Amino acid sequence: MKGIVLAGGKGTRLYPCTNVISKQLLPIFDKPMIYYPISTLMLGGIREIIVISTPYDIVQYQKLLGDGSQWGLSLNYCIQEQPLGIAQAFILTKEKLDGNSVCLILGDNLFYGKLDFFRNAIKNFQKSTIFAYEVENPQDYGVVILDKNKNPIDIIEKPKTYVSKFAIPGLYLFDERVYEYAQSLKPSLRGELEITDLQKIYLEKGDLNVEIIGRGVAWLDTGTPSNLIDAALFIRAIEQRQGRKVACLEEIALNLGFITLSDYVSWVEKMPESDYKKYCLKILEDHYG
Ligand code: G1P
Repeated sequence: MKGIVLAGGKGTRLYPCTNVISKQLLPIFDKPMIYYPISTLMLGGIREIIVISTPYDIVQYQKLLGDGSQWGLSLNYCIQEQPLGIAQAFILTKEKLDGNSVCLILGDNLFYGKLDFFRNAIKNFQKSTIFAYEVENPQDYGVVILDKNKNPIDIIEKPKTYVSKFAIPGLYLFDERVYEYAQSLKPSLRGELEITDLQKIYLEKGDLNVEIIGRGVAWLDTGTPSNLIDAALFIRAIEQRQGRKVACLEEIALNLGFITLSDYVSWVEKMPESDYKKYCLKILEDHYG
């Protein structure tokens, strides 16, 4: 399975912070926001990833992430000229990914905890899988209505009245039909190709799996100033307590065997003096010293 990280959009809810900086480059405590969704894909075993962003911002992502070889990844880049919705990602990547099943993660979605729900979804993948997560503010998300047996009945983008407590996180698995289905979508009233409309196509065919993520996993989205600081404080609390970093891509790559120990060492040696470098060196001493 291949991966897509969608890091486009205008980030208007974070204006003026996002006036000249792409939202997903803003820091969540000690690393750029996009590190977190990349770490999620890596922990799911996905190593071929396309990063999508605006013509203006894509250069910054290339500078930050390179070709991904430092983490044993293959990163490619794709420009989204206009922010025409999440589902547009599949139209943009059709040529590169056609014939492959794909996992799309939104660049501002952060998952923390045991990611077995994700690894299992990849292992047992058929047709399509989305996730459901109980939140206080479902009206801010796409929501899924489930029957008594936890099977999906309907999906609604930002419902005006209460229909379900289950929001749909920005992490989606689709089979190779997704590129064709995305092309059949019509823009919504807000002028976007909605990811929820794509999910509905699978739902209507009886091909949509919904997996509930339990509360032992934290799903945070980081699209508003308050969400951003909450996420930063959350990550800081965990990291300071454990002395372990969340989403340290070098550490993940080493632990998963995506890179060799000598690749790791030569990459870490090139880092400027920083807490991040100190941490990467500490990992070496702790586990491989
Ligand atoms: C988007 C999707 C929505 C999904 C959410 C997850 O919302 O449209 O279905 O639940 O991401 O973060 P938006 O970013 O447009 O508010």
